[in-house]
Amino acid sequence: MGLRRFIFVLSLVLLLNTIESRINTILGSSPMEKAPTVLNVGKFGARGDGFSDDTEAFVSAWKTACASSAPLTLLVPGGKTYRLKPIIFLGPCNSSISIAVEGTILASGKISDWDKANRRSWIMFNKVNGLKLTGGGTIDGNGHVWWKVSCKVDSSRPCRGAPTALTFQTCEEVSVSDLKFKNSQQMHATVSDCKGVRLSGLSISAPAESPNTDGIHVSGSTDVKISDCVIRTGDDCISIVSGSRFITASSIVCGPGHGISIGSLGANGAEDTVSDVLVDTVQLEGSTNGVRIKTWQGGKGYAKNITFRNVVMDNVKNPIIIDQNYCDSAVPCREQKSAVAVSNVAYKNIKGTTANKVAMEFDCSHTVPCRGITLEDVNLVTASGVAAMGFCKNVYISKSGTVVPSTCS
Ligand SMILES: *[C@@H]1O[C@H](CO)[C@@H](O)[C@H](O)[C@H]1NC(C)=O
Ligand SMILES: *[C@@H]1O[C@H](CO)[C@@H](O)[C@H](O)[C@H]1NC(C)=O
Repeated sequence: MGLRRFIFVLSLVLLLNTIESRINTILGSSPMEKAPTVLNVGKFGARGDGFSDDTEAFVSAWKTACASSAPLTLLVPGGKTYRLKPIIFLGPCNSSISIAVEGTILASGKISDWDKANRRSWIMFNKVNGLKLTGGGTIDGNGHVWWKVSCKVDSSRPCRGAPTALTFQTCEEVSVSDLKFKNSQQMHATVSDCKGVRLSGLSISAPAESPNTDGIHVSGSTDVKISDCVIRTGDDCISIVSGSRFITASSIVCGPGHGISIGSLGANGAEDTVSDVLVDTVQLEGSTNGVRIKTWQGGKGYAKNITFRNVVMDNVKNPIIIDQNYCDSAVPCREQKSAVAVSNVAYKNIKGTTANKVAMEFDCSHTVPCRGITLEDVNLVTASGVAAMGFCKNVYISKSGTVVPSTCS
């Protein structure tokens, strides 16, 4: 072989080697290389056949991703269904991780896969910061098995909690976008003790009669923005509870279910606080409530600086409601002196139809009345044409623009 020819072959081999190692880096098949950019869960043994248990494979994929010093993407490929038992993705990690769920993640259908003492979550991210979860795929809670044994469906059963499909516990700068959630065991997605969370482009669905299947539940969190979501479930579309501040929900479609809810707050005498909430551009269809604030008697704390604006109601039973006498218990609640104070709540440009005659209800406490309630351009009518009514108790209201119904009975 001539020298030229030798050099040519040598450089060809070197070139092919480089290309191969590039490809390996992309496919994540070469553990000898530096951190791959995409890790396919299949490489860790996940089968995605819809039957096999892929929990362990997901855990080891997560461990690898979490240990990596370079940001990478965990890929859950499309066209496959990965079955998972309860799973905890534990942080903090060495860099921010993206997860692309292109296929379906399906919950185990065996209740016995959950530890009896801890069955409140299915997929949990604990202390994971900077996570991006996206991909257009589906998270399916396989909830039917749990609904059947819920005390709300079968009253001979004891009341025990069922798992939340997706929980973010203690996190910062997390974004969840472009995903479908369906048939969660109980709530679909919970954001708990987090800061800086963005949820957008989510479609969440479960049957109207499925028990406690809230769409998105926010608790103890600051700076959470929920946008462009369609939520059709059996319970609250969005619920915001204690310790939450600076929460925005915009461009949301809800219904059936129980509407958008702040609370319940102050159960069992608790001191609960929610403030600085903006709910903007929402369509509610056939839900039991529209925009609701609910607090138990005997609680402490506050719900304040809350704005509901640009809301369209379609056949909603209680379009606007503040209920300071909320009581979701088998025994009636006794009247008590202390209450969670409700103040500075604005309703602006709220229109549409009410299924009940009472379109606005302010049922506030005698000792701690609702203060600073403003109504601006509200027009709620019954579908039948009968005049709608307002109900007001212990509330200070100011009005501007056109407000229909205009009176409180
Ligand atoms: C982060 O990287 C260090 C050093 O490589 C490693 O010892 C540690 O286990 C990694 N952390 C996680 C959470 O994997
Ligand atoms: C009231 O809440 C809105 C919406 O979160 C927020 O932008 C505004 O700063 C809050 N106002 C005060 C006085 O904190």
